[in-house]
Amino acid sequence: MKGIIFNLLEEVVIHRHGDAAWDGLLDQAGVDGAYTSLGSYPDAELEALLGAAATVLHVQPDECLRWFGREAMPLLAERYPAFFTAHNTTLPFVLSVNSIIHPEVRKIHPGAQCPTFRFEHGTDGALYMGYRSPRRMCSLAQGFIEGAADHFGETAIVEHPRCTAKGDPECLLSVRVEVRETADAL
Ligand code: HEM
Repeated sequence: MKGIIFNLLEEVVIHRHGDAAWDGLLDQAGVDGAYTSLGSYPDAELEALLGAAATVLHVQPDECLRWFGREAMPLLAERYPAFFTAHNTTLPFVLSVNSIIHPEVRKIHPGAQCPTFRFEHGTDGALYMGYRSPRRMCSLAQGFIEGAADHFGETAIVEHPRCTAKGDPECLLSVRVEVRETADAL
């Protein structure tokens, strides 16, 4: 896993819970925490850090990964504004992940193994996203989508009808987006 993902986790944890919390996670996970953005590090280290965070936050590991993804999106928007400014709403942004975002990420971060999603527009109006990756980080995808919706002032309702963790051959996320009602709009 690329160092940038570890850097984002560090920033999110420190922002929400402080420096001592991050140091505590490094201790619990038994890792030194020296991650450079362009380096590559074992997936097991990320899993250990997320596992430690889940224990401290009293949430399931998948919930922790989802939380991390949602919280990380504003940081990605700061670092890679061009991916976001090209769109006004969530769905076109999400739909650009295979064609623009992840291909660019692979150029900037050589060795990045970003997933490719299978997109399908459902007759029920939802966007369906098939996901298969040995990393099994479907909850990160869910959090990224929810965080993207936050960025565009929308709410993403993401369901997860199929999951490889339940024995399904692929994960399937369904995404519906609603415009968030603001005080101004009322
Ligand atoms: C809604 C949009 C996005 C979705 C659904 C998504 C989903 C994911 C998922 C699930 C992974 C985990 C790796 C795996 O499954 O094998 C991943 C990895 C990654 N994504 Fe995305 N992503 C999105 C947007 C972005 C954006 C905006 C960036 C900005 C640079 C980004 C950069 C990365 C990077 C650096 C990795 C790590 C790859 C590696 O270490 O090998 N993604 N993405």
